[in-house]
Amino acid sequence: MFKVNDNYQKLPGSYLFSTIAKKVSAFQAANPEKTLIRLGIGDVTQPLAPAIIDAMHNAVTEMGNAETFHGYAPDLGYEFLRTAIADNDYKARGCDISADEIFVSDGAKSDSGNIQEIFSVDNRIAVCDPVYPVYVDSNVMAGRTGTYDPKTEMWSNVIYMPCTKENNFVPEFPKENPDIIYLCLPNNPTGTTITKDQLQEWVNYANKIGAVIIYDGAYEAYISEDNVAHSIYECEGARTCAIELKSFSKNAGFTGVRLGYAVVPKDLKCGDVSLHQMWARRHGTKFNGAPYIVQRAGEAVYSEAGKAQLKEQVAYYMKNAAAIKGGLQDAGFEVFGGVNAPYIWLKTPDQMTSWEFFDYLLEKANVVGTPGSGFGPSGEGYFRLTAFGTYENTLAALERIKAL
Ligand code: MLT
Repeated sequence: MFKVNDNYQKLPGSYLFSTIAKKVSAFQAANPEKTLIRLGIGDVTQPLAPAIIDAMHNAVTEMGNAETFHGYAPDLGYEFLRTAIADNDYKARGCDISADEIFVSDGAKSDSGNIQEIFSVDNRIAVCDPVYPVYVDSNVMAGRTGTYDPKTEMWSNVIYMPCTKENNFVPEFPKENPDIIYLCLPNNPTGTTITKDQLQEWVNYANKIGAVIIYDGAYEAYISEDNVAHSIYECEGARTCAIELKSFSKNAGFTGVRLGYAVVPKDLKCGDVSLHQMWARRHGTKFNGAPYIVQRAGEAVYSEAGKAQLKEQVAYYMKNAAAIKGGLQDAGFEVFGGVNAPYIWLKTPDQMTSWEFFDYLLEKANVVGTPGSGFGPSGEGYFRLTAFGTYENTLAALERIKAL
């Protein structure tokens, strides 16, 4: 008789955004006349930029000709894209990362869920609380998190680093030493970030205790302040302790196109064992490469036209962020984030729990957001709104919330 991976049975409930989608569908089915405004999941609404569409059209044409047709992509990514990434995201910022340390994938969600596979099941992970649920759930599936306490909503073998307004949403070094530290900066869900100096302290700490940092930089394009690092490799010593994950979803609107990459520096080792070689082995075995058309689209992100168009797109979403932040503040809400990230993190009013406020907003304003507690116990009493809606919907949602 076969046996299942029992670790899956330990997962409480379904994936956060699936739960929300089900609740919203049920509400819409019961209230078909209501027009919902969705500011929940961080999904983009602006169409792909013209430079990207042109590159995709050209690549589609190439795929239709025998001379220019492409079959399997190289499993670690096409050279043209890896070089564009190395030049633009790293060399241009003075970071010492070469094209062959970049592994192209179908997105940062996959990478952030898969990366734990190359680490021993005995490793102890540390996560910010609140946290993007994939980091914890993928470690639960691997059997690394111990037992779940439904009362505290915590796993016995996970080190939680609370990020609340009391510490300005800056994680503090944990009392016990972790082996793997997940950092998402600028942060999802709180929309806040830390300075480059503070990040440098994390790099020093990881090198000192022999930990690895999984650095999720999905929201890097939204950084507006000068003292914030765009890559962890801007910090000295990061090559020996950090893996960086990047996404094309948020900076270029690829949520439905799917493209991302992981950087695993060759200096990152556990004794004599190279994590770069391990990830190459894993990637080569389990992944057949992102599609050629999509990788050409990714290359266009770094073209002069692409850069200019995407700058405008990011500015569009950040205008939404400013409108949400200002509008909610005017309405008396306590609001965080939204300066270096497209997420607004607000304190729920009148001591409401996160889910109570979710229901209240859905029913009374027909606005969908994300309950903070879905990201971890320290998210209780908070709520996340995304700036990825259209400007019109964002303003309309604000009007509805103010009218409550
Ligand atoms: C979110 O809403 O937190 C993100 O869109 C989820 C993701 O990027 O997978």
